[in-house]
Amino acid sequence: MKPVNLRIAQIADLHFGRDIPAVAQALLAELHEAAPTLVAVCGDLTQTAREAEFRAARAFLAELPAPALVVPGNHDLPGWRVWARFTRPWRPWRQHLDSDPYGAVAHKADGLVAVGVNTARQWGWHPDWSRGRIDARQLTSIGAAFDEAPGDDLRVVIAHHPFLLTPAGQHRGLVGRSKAALRRLRRRADLLLGGHIHLAYSGVADGLVVAQCGTAFSDRLKGEPNSYNLIEAEGDRMTVSTRHWDGDRFGTHQRTDYARDGHEWTTV
Ligand SMILES: [Fe+2]
Ligand SMILES: [Fe+2]
Repeated sequence: MKPVNLRIAQIADLHFGRDIPAVAQALLAELHEAAPTLVAVCGDLTQTAREAEFRAARAFLAELPAPALVVPGNHDLPGWRVWARFTRPWRPWRQHLDSDPYGAVAHKADGLVAVGVNTARQWGWHPDWSRGRIDARQLTSIGAAFDEAPGDDLRVVIAHHPFLLTPAGQHRGLVGRSKAALRRLRRRADLLLGGHIHLAYSGVADGLVVAQCGTAFSDRLKGEPNSYNLIEAEGDRMTVSTRHWDGDRFGTHQRTDYARDGHEWTTV
């Protein structure tokens, strides 16, 4: 079978309400030029889950040049509006994005199967409710989507919370049950995409490539510029390019090559 050329644009933490319109417009122009197969939108579309923020997010998504697989983040829950958070946590999401936040949404294209999961939770046993979690039911749905796919397809999980941290992000914590998830996805998935910590990097965890991008165009910076990732895959090779905003345009800050044997990845 001829390997398929795939290009995924990964964006996260749009945080409408704290967005910088000039950066958002520049990103849209870049994405149109890059002509990706899929845009992975890794959560935190809004700052406080308000109507106007969701409307702005929806208008932005409508401008994207490719199908988008969109998952929510913790900021897409009604924050400290506690009554709404407990009684109808995802109502605004459903209203504005026409999607079930609990469903595992799949996108299939030639050579690609991508599954989005909601890792944001309305509350948790941990005192920091911004930390997310992936549960056994979600892992079963992801596994089922991948098991149905042709063997060589690139298998991608799109989430908000991270499955791999660098020292700069250690204090934010991994997504809850990340170890169990990595164990179950090993050799069944290829790529895990996330956001949440507003830091961009990629690496290998348990044989899977994990790519994180920073906040695409909000002013909620955590010590590095706005960023997004361009991921290019062909056959058993994949490149993750982290693109940083330099005040004028996005440019490649770091480029890492990966290769797989089966669905087990290493850095080249
Ligand atoms: Fe965020
Ligand atoms: Fe977040």
